[in-house]
This record gives sequence, C-alpha cells and structure tokens, in this order.
Amino acid sequence: MGNKEELANFTARDTIHINENNHLEIAGVDTVELAKKYGTPLVIYDIQTVRENIRELKEGLFDYQGPTEVSYASKAFSSVAFYQTIHQENIAIDVVSGGELYLAKQAGFPAKKINFHGNNKSLQELTDALDYNIGNIIVDNFYELEMLKQLTKQRQQMTNILLRITPGVSADTHQYIMTGQADSKFGFDLQNGQAEQALKEALEASYLNVEGLHMHIGSQIFDTDSYALSMNQILSHVNKWQKKYGFQLKVFNIGGGFGVQHTSEEAKNSPKKQLKRISQQLMKLLDDYGMVYPELWIEPGRSIVSEAGTTIYEIGSQKTLPKIRNYVSIDGGMSDNIRPAFYDAKYTGFVANRMNAEANTVVSIAGKACESGDMLIYDLPLPEVKAGDLLAVINTGDYTFAMANNYNRIPRPAVVFVEDGKDFLAVRRETPKDFMRFENTLPKYNH
Ligand code: LLP
Repeated sequence: MGNKEELANFTARDTIHINENNHLEIAGVDTVELAKKYGTPLVIYDIQTVRENIRELKEGLFDYQGPTEVSYASKAFSSVAFYQTIHQENIAIDVVSGGELYLAKQAGFPAKKINFHGNNKSLQELTDALDYNIGNIIVDNFYELEMLKQLTKQRQQMTNILLRITPGVSADTHQYIMTGQADSKFGFDLQNGQAEQALKEALEASYLNVEGLHMHIGSQIFDTDSYALSMNQILSHVNKWQKKYGFQLKVFNIGGGFGVQHTSEEAKNSPKKQLKRISQQLMKLLDDYGMVYPELWIEPGRSIVSEAGTTIYEIGSQKTLPKIRNYVSIDGGMSDNIRPAFYDAKYTGFVANRMNAEANTVVSIAGKACESGDMLIYDLPLPEVKAGDLLAVINTGDYTFAMANNYNRIPRPAVVFVEDGKDFLAVRRETPKDFMRFENTLPKYNH
C-alpha cells in the first residue's frame, strides 16, 4: 500500500495532505519546515481537527431532549494555549490535580466551567478549588466527602458536587473492558450500598449541593451497551433515592471513553454515532422510570485530541540483523510516547520528507532510551531510510505529551499548533538546563 492510500485509509481528516514537495503537510503547514524551525521530536496539533471533533461530539448529543454539556478530560493533553483553545469552543473541562487546575487558571479558563476529579485530592487541592470557585467537585470517596464537608463549613461556602458512582458492571460478567466494576479504586460502589450512604451524607451536609452523579466506565470503548447497562444500574437506584430522599438528579455525567483509531488495523469508531445511540438509550431509560431529563454531560478526552496529534522524529542510527530485524532509531520514544511500552499501543508512521517513496522494506522503530522495551513501532513498512529522514507518527494526540517524562534525562519535546497555514509554538522544548531548576549542588563539594 502506498502512503497516500494508507493515509486515506487511516484518517478522514481533510487537513492532512502530501504536498508538491512530497512532504507531509498538516493544516497547510509543511511538517518538514516545522521540524527545521522547532527541532525534533515535535508534537504537532491540528487545531481545526480538535474543533471539528468537539463539534461532532456536540452533534452526537443533539437528539437528547434536555440540556447537554461536553467537559474535556484535559488529562489527555493540556497546555495553557490548549485550555484557551478549548474555551474558544465554549465547552467545560475536567482537571484531576492541582497542577491541571493551576494551568487552567493560568489560561484564564472560566472557573465555573471547571470540574475537579481524582481519587485522592489533597486538602490543598480542595482548598485551591474552593478559592477558585470552580463549577463542580466530583467527590470520589468518603475521606474526600468528610474533608469537603468540613472545609465548606469552615468557609461557609456553598459548593456544587457530583458523586462518582461505580455502577458495578463487571468485566467478568460482560465482555467489555470497564473501570465501572466493583473492584475499582474509583468512586462509590453502587451495589454494596456505599453510593447510597454517600448520597445521604452529602444531602445532609449544610454546604454541599449535590448537583448529580457521575460515572466513567473506562477508555477505548467502542460499543454503547456498556454505557446503557451502567446508566440503567445508576438510574434504577436514583429512582428509589428520589422517593426515599427527595433527591433530584440535575446532572448525569456519563464520563468519557469513546474509542479512537490509532492505526488502520484498529477498529474505526464514530463517537458521534456512539453518542446518538447512548442519548437514545438514556432517554428510553428515563422514560421507563418516568424521570425528568437531567442535564447530560460527557467527558471525552482522547476522542477530542487523538487524531489531531502527529509526532515528528528525526531518524538516526540503524542496526540490521539479517533474518531477524532491522532497527531504526529515532530521537524520542518512551519519553514522549510511553503508550507502546505501557499499553502495547500500536501506531503507524510515514517518512514525512519523502511521502511519495514506496514502502519497500519493513523496519522496527526504536526509541532512544536505555531500555529494550522502548520500541515505538514494530514491523512498520517504510521506504529505505537514512539518518536525517523524518518519521511522522500519526494519531498521537492522546496521552502522549501528557504522559511525557524525563527518563534518561531526555528533555520533553516542543508542542506546536497548526491552523489555517499558520504555526504557533504552544510549549517550548525542554533543555537540559531546565533540569537544573530543581537541582541543588552540595554546599561544600570538594573534588
Ligand atoms: N473521565 C474520567 C473520570 C477519566 O478517568 C477519563 C480517563 C476520562 C474521562 C477520559 O477518557 P477518554 O475519553 O480519554 O478515554 N493513559 C491511558 C488512558 C487513561 C484514561 C484515564 N481516564 C491511555 O493512554 O490509554
């Protein structure tokens, strides 16, 4: 298969092209020029694709006969400029740490549109959230509930919360991959009565306003039945709680997890279609229970950013082992994309500076870390490459830069946004000098 066909097979983005120089071009910007300008590894975000993905997700919720909200799970990728981009699209965000909250604040993200997640929020983090007066805290466990009760009382500050519920739909009994099963570190368990206990306590707290409930059943989910099953579990309890405690479900946040495609071999998904179906399923359940339609919130991460991201690496050394494998090394790897090493994730790559060259060989792409497991892609069809060629790895927008690390003291890459033929440096490249910001030298070091 040629690059053109592989590209077309793999992404429907109309912002990604092969230009007249046979270079990979994104949003009208030549990626080879970008690599020259900013160096490699370079993470490129195609902002129009981000905007389109958000629009598609919103459209997926159109049929729902109640208010809706998209809250971007910013753990998938965050930067100050990216929070600002998300705000331009007029959606909310979720943050999962004081660090993400701080960055969102620096971006001037409207506090009321920030929701705070996490299974071990600290007193400092909760205090910061209250100081900033954020939209909702998603309470995960009894320890946090107690801390929040005391804190809001001390401060006499009315605070909106959602309770994170573990629906207890187990991967053992259903074939779907879920984090909604009882044995999970997240949330209040529905089946053993802890969710009800938490709701009771929260409703009794003077300064907590229980806006609603939250669930998140996992990531890379391609079906809708696992959502329907979990929503049903929760709503059947809400139905009882309504009668017992007068609890009104104002907000129902059904989490994220809508599947994305990283290679042409992986399943294709349309989060929009998935959401249309989930909305229908939810409305049917609400009708069956005779409930008022709550606000329907979703919390997508990767379905907003995955396809928008491309990473450009420079190729360096090669090692040929006849009849075994040809290793081609790049100037990044698990320090900027840990997903292959961590989750056995698969990616596809192209030679960005020779997109027309025929893929006449098969190579394995090795990262530069001192770790045998630092292999980015195994058995990738590529043209013969030489040092200085550029490898573009596509659909790397989700959980790559976000999980970047400094193993082997490899500096993190730069992040550049492209849109309408223009580029913008969103995050500058780290340098070894940056590491010294955290270091102290011994006071009396004689050698
Ligand atoms: N909401 C909650 C509470 C979550 O924990 C997550 C993801 C999301 C929303 C967004 O899920 P998404 O739409 O992105 O699937 N590092 C892993 C993925 C971890 C997902 C963590 N939670 C990976 O690279 O595959």
